[in-house]
Amino acid sequence: TELHFHEFVVQARPVTRLCKTQSIITVNGQFPGPTVEARNGDFVIIKVVNAAQYNISIHWHGLRMLRNPWADGPSYVTQCPIQPGGSYTYRFRIRDQEGTLWWHAHTGFLRATVYGAFIIYPRLGSAYPFSVPKQEFPLLLGQWFDSDIVLLQRQADFAGLPPNTSVAYTTNGQPGDLYRCSSQGTVRVPVEAGETIMLRIINSALNQELFFSIANHSMTVVGTDAAYTKPFRTTVLMIGPGQTFNVLVTADQPQGLYYMAARAYESALNAPFDNTTTTAILEYRSTRSSNQNRSRPVLPALPAFNDTATATAFTARIRGLTPIKVFTKVDVNLYFIVGLGLINCTNPNSPRCQGPNGTRFTASMNNVSFELPRTTSLMQAYYERIPGVFTTDFPPVPPVQFDYTGNVPRGLWTPSRGTKLYKVKYGSRMQIVLQDTSIVTTEEHPMHVHGFHFFVVGSGFGNFNPATDPLKFNLVDPPVRNTIGTPPGGWVAIRFVADNPGIWFIHCHIDSHLNWGLGMALLVENGVGFSQSVLPPPPDLPQC
Ligand code: C2O
Repeated sequence: TELHFHEFVVQARPVTRLCKTQSIITVNGQFPGPTVEARNGDFVIIKVVNAAQYNISIHWHGLRMLRNPWADGPSYVTQCPIQPGGSYTYRFRIRDQEGTLWWHAHTGFLRATVYGAFIIYPRLGSAYPFSVPKQEFPLLLGQWFDSDIVLLQRQADFAGLPPNTSVAYTTNGQPGDLYRCSSQGTVRVPVEAGETIMLRIINSALNQELFFSIANHSMTVVGTDAAYTKPFRTTVLMIGPGQTFNVLVTADQPQGLYYMAARAYESALNAPFDNTTTTAILEYRSTRSSNQNRSRPVLPALPAFNDTATATAFTARIRGLTPIKVFTKVDVNLYFIVGLGLINCTNPNSPRCQGPNGTRFTASMNNVSFELPRTTSLMQAYYERIPGVFTTDFPPVPPVQFDYTGNVPRGLWTPSRGTKLYKVKYGSRMQIVLQDTSIVTTEEHPMHVHGFHFFVVGSGFGNFNPATDPLKFNLVDPPVRNTIGTPPGGWVAIRFVADNPGIWFIHCHIDSHLNWGLGMALLVENGVGFSQSVLPPPPDLPQC
């Protein structure tokens, strides 16, 4: 095992995109930020120095952080944010994960520009379960906004509006040459004819699920969310914010230039979204000097923005590489409805109330709209036994039963607000069914679980049926993931063992939904003895 040390200096820096220069928050002046590379089993130490003018913390998305919630990173959940001028050192070990993950700011909308790849190679002496690709390239898909993200956040908090839609999608921070002023920076991936390369594709967009394709080339999916999958060929990926895919691509086409392109998958009816396309170029090497270089690359055919059938069929094809036996007896069976909502305003003419008919947007799980504490983090309050910060009465099932995907009575659209956790015993065999609702609109919500990776054992449309649906669960080769979408107007079931004590955030990875309260937290109690208990907090843990 090795030890990897990094220093991340968070700082504002002018960056020019689409002919306009803006100050954005970066790490070490880079956008996207630095790539972290390590092997399975290695130790990682990252000192984060906050040289920006905003509070910030960094989350290592998908890393398990066993007994070590102090290194997880979400502001006000497992730590107070690092204040301007402060620093905090994240120390953790990578445990039984291989593939692609990423890191991002976990404070408000700052992750719009503060993110980077986290690559985990096999342990020393072990190899990929497929033939070694000739080259590897990370492709981080993102969203570019044409105003300051903190300003957008203030507007969103004030008026309850979603942040303005982005003006471009980006690949490794570059919109690509379908946008104005962008051809210079367009990302180029050089390949030799005949060789096979691996792309590590990460959706780091703030608010958008994406389709991704490569012109004239198919992809073989070999991993997702730092777990191997049974290889399968596809011409399109649907990738939600927070998710990653490792795909093999063979340069088996005539010499030339081929676009790799991503654009929106938007399942919400009538929602405003950015309908543009980001591109990078797959460039056969010998094309460089030849005439073909001056011709325009070929564009792939991407599915229509609302093609839920393609999105769902793709997700359903993903299987874990190695057959396992998922436990059949469940100790804790949770059923969470997720969705948006509207709050009636006492003064509908107030500028704060810009939802339909003078309402404000909100979002909830089991009708509780999650509020972060302000004076400390949940984990610090729990560890230091500070009362009054949170309660543990999060409802295990929806408080009211109704036809979740039917015509929901307006009286059920308004959730209550609270900082409610759900407490489970160490080692509990967990099942969580996440159910989309048709409150305001049906919509896929990419739900992320901190502290665990889970088996996706089933999914479907309509309301989950606890009598019949579990009979169809895949307990043999389900995929292992850390972020999974509730199909629009449908449900998804996950299972995992609660063997990681601490407080772990579960939330929609569409940040505008999270900002409206689409989250909750699990409190996993300590087990027996030191080895099943949360480690003591590091001495430099920030205070609020
Ligand atoms: Cu990648 Cu709580 O987030």
